[in-house]
Amino acid sequence: MPANRRTWLKQMGLGMAGLGIVPLEAFSIQDQGPMYDHFPKDDITRLSSNENPYGPSPAAIAAMTEILKRSNRYNWNYSSDLIRAIAQKHQLKEDNVLISAGSTELLDLQARYFGAAKGSFVISAPTYGYWSKAATDAGYNKIVVPLTADKKQDLGSILAAIRPDTNMLYLCNPNNPTGTLIPDKELTDFIAEATKKLTVVIDEAYLDYTDQPSAARWVSENKNLVIIKTFSKIYGLAGARIGYLLAHEETVAKISASKTWANGDISLASRVAAMASLKDTAFTISCAKHNSSIRSQSIQKLEKLGLRCIPSHTHFIYFSLENYGKDYFGILKQHKIEGTYMYEEVGKWTRITVGTEEEMKRFFQAIS
Ligand SMILES: Cc1ncc(COP(=O)(O)O)c(C=O)c1O
Repeated sequence: MPANRRTWLKQMGLGMAGLGIVPLEAFSIQDQGPMYDHFPKDDITRLSSNENPYGPSPAAIAAMTEILKRSNRYNWNYSSDLIRAIAQKHQLKEDNVLISAGSTELLDLQARYFGAAKGSFVISAPTYGYWSKAATDAGYNKIVVPLTADKKQDLGSILAAIRPDTNMLYLCNPNNPTGTLIPDKELTDFIAEATKKLTVVIDEAYLDYTDQPSAARWVSENKNLVIIKTFSKIYGLAGARIGYLLAHEETVAKISASKTWANGDISLASRVAAMASLKDTAFTISCAKHNSSIRSQSIQKLEKLGLRCIPSHTHFIYFSLENYGKDYFGILKQHKIEGTYMYEEVGKWTRITVGTEEEMKRFFQAIS
């Protein structure tokens, strides 16, 4: 296994252990060995990483292909055209935007920034929390709040968990791995309340699968709100590595200061792919539509097998293996299907990405 892949798996395991999630070693990814070392081959069904099975958009592929021959030149213009397009999409100023090679880096940067005071931050569990490792290693204390019984983020307990030294809280909306959504009104009230005390960071990686508006509409008037978004999900550009942060200009300036080349360290190819993707709304609408129909069918099939599912607002499903009599992870391995691991021992909760119709057919043939 290549060293960087090994390091990443190790970090993920450590990150999850920190969140009270069962470490990776025990479950399927580790067991499946070398097939995880490379791009999925034709005989491997990848339902593990919440990638878009339909992407990138044809327009993004064309734009990337066209620009490759200009890759000998530096990206000196600091991606200003992409920043402008993102600002316009969210009706914000360009100073409210910071772009980077994927949103995980932005999550890491903000955590290091807020963690410099070595206070504490609040996070639900399970959620997407790998980005907090560097900051917690450096002394930023994590306050973990469990989800409610129906796997929602417990906003009341999150507020109650804030300590005098807490300066940030993270909400993933919709949440990974559960797929639950905090409705707009509830979230708006929560932001108004919580940002009186600290900075609220909202990760909207999967919001494009819903009809809910982005909470980014509050950032120009609220200095204590940070929104993180990515092109890795509905835009199908996970491998192109591009994400962005939206915040009040003072917050953007402070977080950018820790980067050597803020906004400049994404490739030309990623930049044009993102620009083309923003324009290709037909592609994202089609992805969301396909996903919604295959997701409902998949939930019905899981429930028919007696497996409890959490209603999902995303392109993945969180379900319980408690009533599954067979060796689920062994069966996935045998059929060369990449699933995830067990996020919670109690209830035996795991997650599966909603793939194409063909991929889900293979999945259900295997587990039925
Ligand atoms: C909630 C959430 N945020 C961020 C990311 C990472 O996105 P990126 O590829 O932009 O680093 C993921 C990836 O799965 C995610 O689930």
